[in-house]
Amino acid sequence: MLINAIFLLLFEVKYCIMKMTISPEASKMDKKILIIETKNTHYVMGVNEKGILRHIHWGRKACREDYNLSPEWERNSNHSELDYISEEYSPFGGTRYRSCAFKCEYFDGCRDSVFTYESDEMTKDSLSVTLVDKAYDIRIVLHYKWSDEHDIITRSVTVVNNSAHDLTIEKLMSAELSLPTEEIYDITNTNGSWAGEFQLETSPFKAGSIRFETHRGTTGHVNSPFLILSKNATEDFGDVYFAALGWGGNFKMEAQRDFIGITRVTLGLNDFDFTKILHAGERITTPKAYIGYTNGFAEMSNQMNDFAIHHILPKSFAEEPLPVLYNSWEATGFDVNVDNQLRLAKIAAEIGCELFVMDDGWFGARKDDRAGLGDWYVNEEKFPNGIDELIEGVNKLGMDFGLWFEPEMVNEDSDLYRAHPEWVYHYDTRKPSLLRNQLVLNLTIPEVKEYCFDVMDKMVANHNIKYIKWDMNRPFSEIGAPNLENQRDLWYLHTLAVYDIADKLKAKYPYLQIEACSSGGGRAEYGALEHFDMAWTSDNTDPVDRLEIQRGFSMLYPRKSMRAWVTDWNAGSRPTSLDFRFNVSMQGSLSIGSNLLKYTDEEIEKCKYYIALYKDIRELVQFGKLYRLKNFRNDGMSANQYVSEDKSRSVLFLCSTATSFFNRQFKTLNLKGLDPNARYRVTMGDEVKERSGDYLMNVPLQERLADPLSSQIWMIEKI
Ligand code: DGJ
Repeated sequence: MLINAIFLLLFEVKYCIMKMTISPEASKMDKKILIIETKNTHYVMGVNEKGILRHIHWGRKACREDYNLSPEWERNSNHSELDYISEEYSPFGGTRYRSCAFKCEYFDGCRDSVFTYESDEMTKDSLSVTLVDKAYDIRIVLHYKWSDEHDIITRSVTVVNNSAHDLTIEKLMSAELSLPTEEIYDITNTNGSWAGEFQLETSPFKAGSIRFETHRGTTGHVNSPFLILSKNATEDFGDVYFAALGWGGNFKMEAQRDFIGITRVTLGLNDFDFTKILHAGERITTPKAYIGYTNGFAEMSNQMNDFAIHHILPKSFAEEPLPVLYNSWEATGFDVNVDNQLRLAKIAAEIGCELFVMDDGWFGARKDDRAGLGDWYVNEEKFPNGIDELIEGVNKLGMDFGLWFEPEMVNEDSDLYRAHPEWVYHYDTRKPSLLRNQLVLNLTIPEVKEYCFDVMDKMVANHNIKYIKWDMNRPFSEIGAPNLENQRDLWYLHTLAVYDIADKLKAKYPYLQIEACSSGGGRAEYGALEHFDMAWTSDNTDPVDRLEIQRGFSMLYPRKSMRAWVTDWNAGSRPTSLDFRFNVSMQGSLSIGSNLLKYTDEEIEKCKYYIALYKDIRELVQFGKLYRLKNFRNDGMSANQYVSEDKSRSVLFLCSTATSFFNRQFKTLNLKGLDPNARYRVTMGDEVKERSGDYLMNVPLQERLADPLSSQIWMIEKI
């Protein structure tokens, strides 16, 4: 007992002495404070006496003059100052014991990094801060970019090797973030699967570390390259910090909560099976990370929707609504031919589709998924007069034409594989694992990359093709790339090659739209969306499942990029009406995937009605503000309201997802985002009412969707 007491006393004395040795000057240490100011937030960092770039604040704005660095001291020999201060970008080295943002090995075997502040450059919308490891002449430049209208900062990092030696990078994250308080934040990512993408999962993050990642070579369907950290947040209020990564290759989002309660996040290229060798004079820039702080989830989603349209999506189509497309995959599968496609196209045009996309099956010896991938020439049996017969037919019907490719893949049963078995990732000692009977082409070989570009380039150059659906239906395996000096680079180089091919196609054909697809939504994220105009969200087109998939997607991704098909998918004992299916798909970029050849006249009329309605409201859905009023996981009903920027128009989609009689109860609804002082005409089917904006927003509307799985669309228009 006595010994313990003496020990504690000594510890306290040491602690106080250490505290007292911090002079007032040292505690201020505000020689260099850098403040990024967005619409509603400040993001602040400062350089301490030792030249370390510390993170100071991220959140609501405060008086600029007041920002300074809090004091630093060693707590005890096991918790050094480096271990607990929040750094802007921490390298591995010294007495840091957390998971860092950067790790490397220098030419002499040293793996300890010491990066200190060297310089900064601030403009009205950008900041770059250069850190240097003087002993090795290596620089890390932290980039920040922002705009006046959003609370979102785009971050990335460049490593510059000015030395005369190789540098082996083992970890290189796009950003490190520190949350402001020691409180417990809820952490949200997805826990999905094929046909079950974007399943949001939230849990309190109390201790240790948690990571969301992929090792598949491509994004995949399980975790998403984003993180949301929130504190008592609802759709409308509460602190929400979020980060989304522009990378669909191997990614890693990691959060750690340390012994004093600070939650730190790093996000970027996955360091799993990763090294990057920077030769003398070389540099590398990471993928972008988009980070933001908002009040509530609705504000987060609406800011990201707008930000993505203006700053992320490829410029050519970002600001215009996307066409209503018809895709023939669910109607004809691999069995495409000129007759059945033209028959489908005729009805697709009649109901109002603007683009006709022929999916898998048109090329090589493709009858099913066992053969043909890699042989991108038109199948003559299916198209005896060439593909132009179909394209011209589609164009005569007033629609554009689009075509499916899966350029990164090859079947063993293909001319390409027979000619070039060495073009796939492989090890000579291992049998390649087939998934869906296909193998992954090694895009890090320049000829292979060129081949992938050429096949699409030739088709687009020689035919009136306005749209490509770029699919990718399996993850990597047996990841040997004997052509590379450093084979661990293949994950990174493959993803870059995909983006590069897409960019080259778009540069050469500015009218070309490209959709990213990977067995459904396996490539629906900002890496793809920086280069592709939109993404296929899921192979699951059951409208009830789709509500949850779409809710997850809508959190951080732009609605216009979410392709949403109306199909004939009717889940067994839970069939849904065509009205319900349209209701759900009209909340993204409406597309049709049904077998229209089987539709009755009544169903065709319904398609015409809904497609015309969608064309009238698509600007609202794609560019307006989204308010998620109810969601089916918690409320047995989904209610999503979209409001135009000027608040003059709004549309509300209501879907009852409850399937039991008991659950068919009244739900109360308050609309959002309207002008409180204006009067609105509310059209609910045949019923029309007039109400003020403040009434609609403040007096709960009691709604009862009469039947399970029924739906309604309300139009709300300023009088
Ligand atoms: C998977 C995609 O998600 C589907 O839409 C379809 O294009 C098939 N591949 C074709 O093989």
